[in-house]
Amino acid sequence: MKKIGIIGGGAMGSGIAQVFAQKGHSVALYDTNQEALNRSKQNLAKTFEKLVAKEKYTEDQAKEIQENIEYVSDLVAFAEVDLMIEAIVENLEIKQTVFKQVEEIVSDTCILASNTSSLSIASIASACTKPERVIGIHFFNPAPLMALVEIIPAVQTQEGLAEEIKTLIQSVGKLPVITKDTPGFIVNRVARPFYGEAIRILEEGIADTETIDFAMTSLGGFRMGPFELMDFIGHDVNYRVTESVFEAFFYDPRFKPSFSQKRLFEAGYYGRKSGRGFYNYAEGIEKKAPSQDQALLEKIYNRILVMLINEAADALFLNIASKEDLDTAMTKGVNYPKGLLKWADEYGIENVKNDLDELYNHYHEDRYRLSPIIRNMVKNNQTFY
Ligand SMILES: NC(=O)c1ccc[n+]([C@@H]2O[C@H](COP(=O)([O-])OP(=O)(O)OC[C@H]3O[C@@H](n4cnc5c(N)ncnc54)[C@H](O)[C@@H]3O)[C@@H](O)[C@H]2O)c1
Repeated sequence: MKKIGIIGGGAMGSGIAQVFAQKGHSVALYDTNQEALNRSKQNLAKTFEKLVAKEKYTEDQAKEIQENIEYVSDLVAFAEVDLMIEAIVENLEIKQTVFKQVEEIVSDTCILASNTSSLSIASIASACTKPERVIGIHFFNPAPLMALVEIIPAVQTQEGLAEEIKTLIQSVGKLPVITKDTPGFIVNRVARPFYGEAIRILEEGIADTETIDFAMTSLGGFRMGPFELMDFIGHDVNYRVTESVFEAFFYDPRFKPSFSQKRLFEAGYYGRKSGRGFYNYAEGIEKKAPSQDQALLEKIYNRILVMLINEAADALFLNIASKEDLDTAMTKGVNYPKGLLKWADEYGIENVKNDLDELYNHYHEDRYRLSPIIRNMVKNNQTFY
């Protein structure tokens, strides 16, 4: 049975510790901040009180699972671990320092993983003397509830390690997908147009936030509209991800952030958590009723959907991941009602091409360029599945 070492006892590290402990692994959870460790332990106790009350676990099982986690304030405990997962602050220099430190303690066969959302695994691995044992294992928040895990081998990662990790991740009840070490991996890359195109439609004055959200929930079946979702995630997080993906893609205009969101971020209007974002959450303020103009709603839904499909198709074109993994990532990582490539087949590959070409011909912006894979598929009368 593998022993897991986790560095960082915040939201992600604690959740990942729970995932492994629930499946019988012994876990060492390390944090430089003792308070974070105390909080992590207390939160887990509360979680299991609820799970026992709901009869998901017996008292004994809950006790055993909690005892599987050892909260440590010294890295020496990591001499015994088979896999280390780092989930500390999103800062390359700090992560590199921690990887260097940990490499001096762990065994030669210990695998070193990072849960980073936005840094390249290659850059983290480059700090290590044995970079071939470094890999990305990207859980989603909250880790115990979200099934998806992105596995990211770097250029340095030894052959076969991604498959080994995939088997381990499956054994703890998660759905792993393998993706190349490119900005945003799968989910944070492919999901960008859901936000970006919605904001663009707003900025052009085509519709208001309520109507755009309504189009995506009513016609698209998304659980939340783009503006509700951005307000929920928080513009501090969502804007920063957008900006970092844009920079990391060498400023590809497809990923260009918007001034509307940047200003919310600068104003501290982070969304729900600060009482104001695209919407005002102050008591007594009601949202406006969305437009019921079916033609308008369809125009919005179609435009955002084909932009999302184009992003997923382009990721397939560039061999970022398999078509199955691309679809799994979006349904299990961000709860899309359907995988985008499956959705493309249903929408019609030729319709995707025509809609995007129309946008491109109208705007003459690179943002609307059609992925060559779609054009080829239309020529050859193909579908994704
Ligand atoms: N929060 C999310 O939605 C989410 C989702 C996926 C991935 N991630 C990634 O996971 C990582 C952690 O995110 P989080 O939201 O759990 O952060 P967090 O702020 O909740 O927790 C970070 C923890 O790391 C500890 N820490 C900081 N520096 C340390 C060091 N040098 N050594 C040991 N411990 C240290 C802090 O004390 C803190 O407890 C980041 O890389 C983030 O990008 C976050």
